[in-house]
Amino acid sequence: MSCIAADFIIEQIREKPASNLGLATGSTPLGLYERLVDLNRNGKVDFSKVSTINLDEYCGLAPEHKQSYGYYMDTNLFSKVNIKKKNTHLLNGLASDIDAECKRYDHLIDSLGGIDLQILGIGFNGHIGFNEPSDEFVRNTYCVKLARKTITANSRFFNSVSQVPRFALTMGIYTIMMSRKLILLADANKQDILTKALYGSITPKVPASICSLHQNLMVICCSGKQI
Ligand code: PGA
Repeated sequence: MSCIAADFIIEQIREKPASNLGLATGSTPLGLYERLVDLNRNGKVDFSKVSTINLDEYCGLAPEHKQSYGYYMDTNLFSKVNIKKKNTHLLNGLASDIDAECKRYDHLIDSLGGIDLQILGIGFNGHIGFNEPSDEFVRNTYCVKLARKTITANSRFFNSVSQVPRFALTMGIYTIMMSRKLILLADANKQDILTKALYGSITPKVPASICSLHQNLMVICCSGKQI
């Protein structure tokens, strides 16, 4: 899964060296980032002109916090490849003015010319980024109350469930859908929700379901059975 996704990213960067990559965090893309680090070390991919835009960040965690997505990206990718730090963009989970921070991010994505290729994982509840199941799709970057299922799932990274932030900032659905290419990655343990997202109704109750409307969606999954 990671090798196939890495090949698509390499192809994207070869076609457009100054690509804007939308990046995801969590367990699923770890193998992809490892692969990209190896390929960069072997001179197979050059990140010197690439910009990255991350999907989401916990509220209340500084980039130095080990469970922040800023820390995750630095540790797993940015510090290990030849990307310029100034070209890596994340939401500021410590922003005092959340509305201004969300607007800054939307404006930033626009000013960079949009996202060329967005990597997505999928939550057990069907979330993409931190767009949790809801009655409506949210368009732009916003502050979201994390779903109980997400807090429980992500507590594996923290000492206790009480330490998991209750809120996060996330790119909205419109921004994700405006990416020119989407790559949705799903481990074998996401088969059920992936099937629901791809073959069930398109509904904000399963946020990933909207991906099937995208013109250039690639789903890469590990699957024990055909879906
Ligand atoms: P995971 O998270 O890759 O850690 O399973 C995916 C997600 O919640 O979007």
